[in-house]
Amino acid sequence: MKTLLTSLVLAFIAPLFILAQTKPPEQHIDSLIASMTLEEKAGQLSQFSGGWTNMSTNSTVTAEQRAMVKEGKVGSFLNVFGSEITRELQRIAVEDSRMRIPLLYGFDVIHGFRTTFPIPLAEASSWDPEAVEKAERTAAVEAAAAGIHWTFAPMLDIARDPRWGRIAESSGEDPYLGSAMARARVKGFQGENGLADNAVLACAKHFAAYGAAEGGREYNTVDISERSLRETYLPPFKAALDAGAVTFMSSFNEIAGVPSTGNRALLTGILRDEWGFKGFVVSDWTSIPEMRAHGIVATDEEAGALAVTAGTDMDMVGGVYLQYLPALVREGRIPVQTVDEAVRRVLRVKFRLGLFENPYRYCDAEKERSLIYTDATRAAARAMARRSIVLLKNGKNVLPLNKDIRTIALIGPLSDDRDNPLGPWAQAGRPSDVVTVLEGIKAAAAHSCKVIYARGCGITDSLPAKDFYESVRAAKQADVVIMVLGESLNMSGEAGSRSNLDLPGNQENLLEAVCAVGKPVVLVLMNGRPLTLPWAADHCDAIVESWFLGVQSGNAIADVLFGEYNPSGKLPVSFPRTVGQVPVYYNHKNTGRPTNDSNRFTSKYIDVPNTPLYPFGYGLSYTTFSYKDLALSSKKITADGSVSVTVNVTNSGHRDGEEVVQLYIRDVAGSVTRPVKELRGFKKISLKAGETKRVEFALEPDDLAIWNREMKWAVEPGSFRVFVGTNSADNLEDGFEVVQRH
Ligand code: NOJ
Repeated sequence: MKTLLTSLVLAFIAPLFILAQTKPPEQHIDSLIASMTLEEKAGQLSQFSGGWTNMSTNSTVTAEQRAMVKEGKVGSFLNVFGSEITRELQRIAVEDSRMRIPLLYGFDVIHGFRTTFPIPLAEASSWDPEAVEKAERTAAVEAAAAGIHWTFAPMLDIARDPRWGRIAESSGEDPYLGSAMARARVKGFQGENGLADNAVLACAKHFAAYGAAEGGREYNTVDISERSLRETYLPPFKAALDAGAVTFMSSFNEIAGVPSTGNRALLTGILRDEWGFKGFVVSDWTSIPEMRAHGIVATDEEAGALAVTAGTDMDMVGGVYLQYLPALVREGRIPVQTVDEAVRRVLRVKFRLGLFENPYRYCDAEKERSLIYTDATRAAARAMARRSIVLLKNGKNVLPLNKDIRTIALIGPLSDDRDNPLGPWAQAGRPSDVVTVLEGIKAAAAHSCKVIYARGCGITDSLPAKDFYESVRAAKQADVVIMVLGESLNMSGEAGSRSNLDLPGNQENLLEAVCAVGKPVVLVLMNGRPLTLPWAADHCDAIVESWFLGVQSGNAIADVLFGEYNPSGKLPVSFPRTVGQVPVYYNHKNTGRPTNDSNRFTSKYIDVPNTPLYPFGYGLSYTTFSYKDLALSSKKITADGSVSVTVNVTNSGHRDGEEVVQLYIRDVAGSVTRPVKELRGFKKISLKAGETKRVEFALEPDDLAIWNREMKWAVEPGSFRVFVGTNSADNLEDGFEVVQRH
C-alpha cells in the first residue's frame, strides 16, 4: 500500500507524466493511473449528458458540468456536439484539469448524422452490406466533423417481436443477416485504417438479448436459454467484435434474473475471457442505478460495486461511479485493481483515437462547414434510401407509374410530412432538410401531371368518415391514387412499444374509403416495424414499404414509383397477419407436431395460418427472376469439409433489375433440435433483362456448426437440406450428408 505521502507527491507531479508524450501508450497509461486520485479515476469512468429539448439534443453544458471537467470528474460526454463547444470543453479538460486527460464525446449516430439516412431496419432491407458500410462511413465523416468520437451504434439486437419499438433500430429477426450488417456498420463507422481520420468508434449494443423482452414491452424482462442466447442473440455481437468494434454497451434488461449491467458471466466471462474483447463497456443510460429497481441490489453503492466488478467500465449518466467508487475502494469493498483496469481500458481507447497526441483532432470548424450536409451526402442518402425500399405487392403491374400520367391523387397524413420521415433517433437531423413525398413526386412527374393532395386524417386521429370527403373527391379525379400511411416517428424507437400493429388511428378507414372509389391504389408505408396489413394486402393494387427513409424520402420514393430505380429490397423481418401470431419468424423449430391442416392436433392456430403475411427475405421487383439448376459440389463431406452450392438465376422479365439470391440450410437431426431453415448466404446481383448468372456459395464448417448438447460449436454428422431462392419460403431444394471420417 502506498503511503499518503507518496500519493500526494505523485499527485502533485502528475502533469509532468503527461508531458512525456514520447512514452509508449501502455507506459504512459501506467504513469497516469499511478498519479490519479481515486476521484479522478472515478471521473474517467463517468459519462454525463449535454442538454435536451423536446427529444433532441441542444448541446448545452451547464456551469456545473464545466467545473466538473476542471475537477477531473468527467471522462466522457454524450449529446454534446459541434466543433466550438467540444473544443471549449476539451480545452478545460486538457489545460485546466490536473491530469489533463482529454474527454471522449459520444452520440447516438444511429442512421446518419445531420444527413439522416434510412432507419437501420430499412438499411438492412437492402441486403447490401457494402451499401450499408458506405452509409455509415458518410455518417461517421459528418459526425467526426462535428466533434464526435464515438457513436452508440450499431444496435445488434435480434428482434422477432414487432411490438418492440426498437426493432426499427435493428437489422431484423435473423442472426446471419444481423451479423453481416454488424460487420458492415462497424467497418463503416471505424473506417478500414485502424481508427484513422474521421473514424468514429462503434459501440455494439445492447449486450445482450434486449430484443427478447417479454411481450415486446420496452425494458422488459428477458428469460431465454443459454442456447438461444448463443445461437440467436450473440452472433451479431461476435461479428462486430471480430470486425474491430472498440466498445460495447450493456443492455437494460435482465437475462434469467441478472441485469446485463451487473452480469459478470456475460461482460467478463463471454465478452472478455472467451471472446478476447480488449475495449471498454459502457452502461446504458442510468442502467447502473436501475439495478435497484430490478431488485438485485438495495443501494446505488451496491449497484456500482456490482457493475464495475461485472465489467461495466463506464457509467452512462448514472453518477454512481463518481459518487461511490472511491469509497468502495477505500473501504476495501472492491479492489483498486478493478477500478484501475476499467480506467486503463478507457484511456487505451483515448490513446487509440489519437486524443493524447491531439485532443482537438475532431474539433475542426472548417471540416464542420465543408463536410456536413453536402451534395455528396444527400446523394449518398438518396442512393441508400431507394435501395432500402421493399415492394410488397404490385398487382396488374400498376407500378412503375407512367411518367405521362395525367392526374395523381396523393392522399394520407404522411404524404407531405416533414418530421416523421426522419424516423426515430435522428437527433441531429432536421425536418427542414426532408424532401416530402409530395415534393418528390412533383419533382419526378411530368410538368403536365396534376397532383391533387389531400391529407385525409392525422396519423392517430379518429375522425368520422365524412371527413374523408376531400380524399374521396381527389381519388375520383385521379388516374392513380398514392396513399402514404403509417406511423409517426415516435411510435417506434426507444420506448415505442405497441400492443397493436394495425395502421394507427383512422388510417385504415381512410384507405377503405379511397379504395371504394375504384381507382388503382398504391399504398406507400412509412413505419418503424412490421405492421399487420391483411385488408390492405387484399385491396390495394400495390404496396411499397418505405420504412422511414430520412432526408431524401420523397426523392427515393418517387424514384421507385416512377421506375427510375427498380426496387431490390427484401424484408429482414416477417410481417405477421395478426398481432396474435407474434413472434412469427422463419427460422423457428418444427415441434413434434408440425402444422398440418388435416390434423387438428398439430401446432397451429385454429383461426389463422402459421405463416406470416410476408415472409423473411421477401420483396418484389419490376422484373421477375427464375431459379434453375441447383447443384452441390459434393453429396458427402466430412465435418471439416465444405460444399459449394451453385444455381442459375435468370432475369425473366423485361427490365434490368437486382435480386438477392438467398441460401438456407436445415440440419435434419442434431444432438439438439434445429430450426426448419437458417440463412447461410446471400448475394445481391444485378441482371439485365434476359440475362442469366450462375451464382455460387460456399458452405463452410462455420455455416454448418451448431451449439451442440455439450454447449460447444461443432459440425455434427447427418443430413443437411439446402434451399436456394428469392425469399425464405420459395426455394429450390437439394441435400448432402456430413459423414464420420474413417
Ligand atoms: C438509451 C438507449 O437505450 C441507448 O441505445 C442509447 O445509446 C442511450 N440511451 C444514449 O442515448
